[in-house]
Amino acid sequence: MTKIIHFSDSHAGGGAEDWLAYLDKRWVGVFNYKFRRQFQHDQNNLILAVEYILDTKPDIVVCTGDLTSTGQPGEFAMAKKILKPLRDSNIPVIYTPGNHDYYVKRTKCVRAMKEMVWYLTKGEYDFDDLPSVQRHGEIDFIVVNESWPTNLLMSSGHLKRKSSQFIEKICKQPKHYPRIMVGHYPLIEDAPIMRFRHRLFGQKHIVRLLKEGVIDLSLCGHIHRPYSKLNIDGKGEICAGSITRNGVINEINYDEKTGLFKQQHLYLNNI
Ligand SMILES: [Fe+2]
Ligand SMILES: [Fe+2]
Repeated sequence: MTKIIHFSDSHAGGGAEDWLAYLDKRWVGVFNYKFRRQFQHDQNNLILAVEYILDTKPDIVVCTGDLTSTGQPGEFAMAKKILKPLRDSNIPVIYTPGNHDYYVKRTKCVRAMKEMVWYLTKGEYDFDDLPSVQRHGEIDFIVVNESWPTNLLMSSGHLKRKSSQFIEKICKQPKHYPRIMVGHYPLIEDAPIMRFRHRLFGQKHIVRLLKEGVIDLSLCGHIHRPYSKLNIDGKGEICAGSITRNGVINEINYDEKTGLFKQQHLYLNNI
């Protein structure tokens, strides 16, 4: 049995860390944080999640991004402080940035995001190594980055050609183990026109691979309300929801003998 714990979208936040923030997109994120997010996202829930993970000792932890609100170094430092016990444990972590982690092109922000990838994954891979396959136990995790700095109005993501070609190439190979794709954005989009400002672009072929079962599971965040879209074998897409907004994590048990996944969303205040 392999146990996976997946959390997402903790959105640490604060003020503008330098005056240049007022010249790029960060002022939008800082404004959002000051007037909305700080009242919605309770970082204590992330502390609870870390405690739960250390108690439960899963085989692997997956974080699908948006650890910060505007991708500033001080916000990454806040997240790091809470996640340090997990980093210091021997539990492997897969992390891919969300759109709020790779928010602007400012050098110090990009550096902080890349350092976080290196820190949280314990040096297993670098941001610039993505897309990449990480094998843990008898599962292949296909880790992609879909987040890039956008203009003021967009929160959309982009699965670039390089990434989709990489996934397609992996999926053409003989399948020895189930494949779990890890990205920030949901692949399955029920309202692509309504949600064009928030959705993922470039994922069409990959959705087909998921629906055909060539990829067994897609783990994502970005949407703060948790949900799963699974078939009777437990395959499909799972959004962890926001840990700090809803106190929720996604727990998956994979039975190697039967090849079945069992999934549940856990509300940490109810455990
Ligand atoms: Fe988010
Ligand atoms: Fe997001």
